[in-house]
Amino acid sequence: MKNIVVLISGNGSNLQAIIDACESGIIENARIAAVISNKADAYGLERAHQAGIDTLHLAAGDYTDREAFDRAMADNIDQFSPDLIILAGFMRILSADFVRHYQGRMINIHPSLLPKYTGLNTHQRAIDAGDTEHGTSVHFVTEELDGGPVILQAKVPIFEDDTAEDVMARVQQQEHRIYPVVANWCLQQRVTMQGNNAVFEGDILPANGYA
Ligand code: GAR
Repeated sequence: MKNIVVLISGNGSNLQAIIDACESGIIENARIAAVISNKADAYGLERAHQAGIDTLHLAAGDYTDREAFDRAMADNIDQFSPDLIILAGFMRILSADFVRHYQGRMINIHPSLLPKYTGLNTHQRAIDAGDTEHGTSVHFVTEELDGGPVILQAKVPIFEDDTAEDVMARVQQQEHRIYPVVANWCLQQRVTMQGNNAVFEGDILPANGYA
C-alpha cells in the first residue's frame, strides 16, 4: 500500500476528489496517510476527519521563517514515508530545500493552462485578457513557482458574461477529474520526472496533451 500526504490551505475539494479516488480504486493501492494544513479553519481538515484521515495544522506564525516552517512540515511528512506529496490548494510558496527534498514525488494543480497565468487570480486574469479558453494544469513541483514540468492539462471554455466564479467552477470540475488520474500515474510510476521533463510510460498521454 502506497502512502500519500496531501497539503491544503482551504476548501479541499481536490482533496475530496483524491479521497474518493482512493476509495473507488481510480487511485490503485494507495491511502492518504495524512492531511496537513497551514490554516486552522481549512474546510479540507473537516473532510479529512470525516474520512478518518490523520490531520495536522501547522501555523506559519509559530516559526521564525519560511525555512523553519518547511523543515517542520518535512519532519512531519516524512514520518508517513510518503510515496507522493499532493499539493491541493496549498497557498504557500515552498522553500528550495523543501522542494528539492521531494523532487519528482511532489505534484501541484494550478488553475490555468500553464505556462499562462502563474500565481494568483488566474480566472479573472484570463477573463480580463479576453481569453475564450482557460483550464488547469497538473505539474511536478520544482523550485520555479508554477514552473515544473506539466503532466496533464484540461481546457474549459470562457463564455461572454462569465464571472471569475463561473470559470472557477468549470475549472474545478475538470481538476476533480484529472488530479486523481495523474496521482495514480505518479504512484504507479507511469509518469516520472527526468531532468526537467515529465516522461510517460507507453501512450497513456492523450495525443494532444489534454485530458
Ligand atoms: C484549486 O482550484 C487549485 O487549482 C488552486 O486552488 C484551488 C483549491 O481548491 N490552486 C492554486 O491556486 C495554487 N496556486 P480546493 O481547496 O477546493 O481543492
